[in-house]
Amino acid sequence: MIILAIETSCDETSIAILENKKVLSNITVSQVLEQQEYGGVVPSLAARLHLKNIQKVLKSALSEAQIEPQKIDYIAYTEKPGLVICLQIGKIIAETIALYLNKPLISCNHLKGHIYASLLETKKKWKFPVLALVISGGHTQLYYLKNHLEFDLLGQTRDDAIGECLDKISLLLGYTYPGGPIIERLALKGQDTYSLPLTKLDKSYDFSFSGLKTAVRRLIERSWISNVFNKDITERNKIVRSSKILNVNDLAFSLQSTLVKVLLFKVKKVLDCKQVNTVVLGGGVAANQYLAGCFQIFLQRKKINLFVPKKKYCTDNAAMIGILAYYKIYQQD
Ligand code: KG4
Ligand code: ZN
Repeated sequence: MIILAIETSCDETSIAILENKKVLSNITVSQVLEQQEYGGVVPSLAARLHLKNIQKVLKSALSEAQIEPQKIDYIAYTEKPGLVICLQIGKIIAETIALYLNKPLISCNHLKGHIYASLLETKKKWKFPVLALVISGGHTQLYYLKNHLEFDLLGQTRDDAIGECLDKISLLLGYTYPGGPIIERLALKGQDTYSLPLTKLDKSYDFSFSGLKTAVRRLIERSWISNVFNKDITERNKIVRSSKILNVNDLAFSLQSTLVKVLLFKVKKVLDCKQVNTVVLGGGVAANQYLAGCFQIFLQRKKINLFVPKKKYCTDNAAMIGILAYYKIYQQD
């Protein structure tokens, strides 16, 4: 069975072709360079770039997979959540191909795709019940699954998503978008020095990261005031980065370690109340090696399996939509 999958929910134009669960091609054109000067994703620019890139992405996906369009059995696409005008482009392309080939359409949820990405390129199977944590640029969510596709949302962020928090702090430090990989690189040279607030350690399974972001902003501003009164923004950023008062590497490490502590607190909370045999991480922030390593150590002690997608499948891609579609078609493994 051949599935063609389309992902255009944000700033990546991606098309994948899967033969059952096997990825034959997964072509992604990122808009990071074009979006960088705006410090985030501008929806109208994202839509324009999807329109510009989608045909060549489709052509490359077909040619790399060496699949004639007539061999495609299903067309899958990201239905939601995401930027509405970007989702509409993916949908109209999917509908057009499906109409032309007279094949069924499978609409997919982007966040569920992030979770199912952990089943790409592995022979291992989830052991239910599964606790899935989506940590992306737009979402932080905890789901409980008693079986495939039976998603029960336990909690989610009440304000900033975890990736959004990393992206905003990167900009405050004078670095670019996306911030997660930059913070990870800086943290490699840092240590846990700054005491940052562990936010929303309450009874709920919800998260909140805006207080943490504000605490980091205050730290940065304090170091500005003592160093760079009246300098322009570029000059200020240079000084903040080289500041002896604020060690950016240590701040990055402390930030990562605080975020991981909060996530583990909530996961532990679920484990205390519910039977869990597998924990799944998904979304761009799951690419963070430090974070995945901490989860691995924590869960190993509890003899719980951890599934993390391969790095190339953590950030937005169409293969994750393809594998989700596969499970939706078969309803089993
Ligand atoms: O899942 P994703 O590609 O897009 C959304 O669905 O939002 O996630 C993007 C997010 C960004 O916030 C980015 O900074 C973060 O994932 N990210 C990382 C890493 N790579 C990407 N965060 C931490 N460490 C990384 N290595
Ligand atoms: Zn995503």
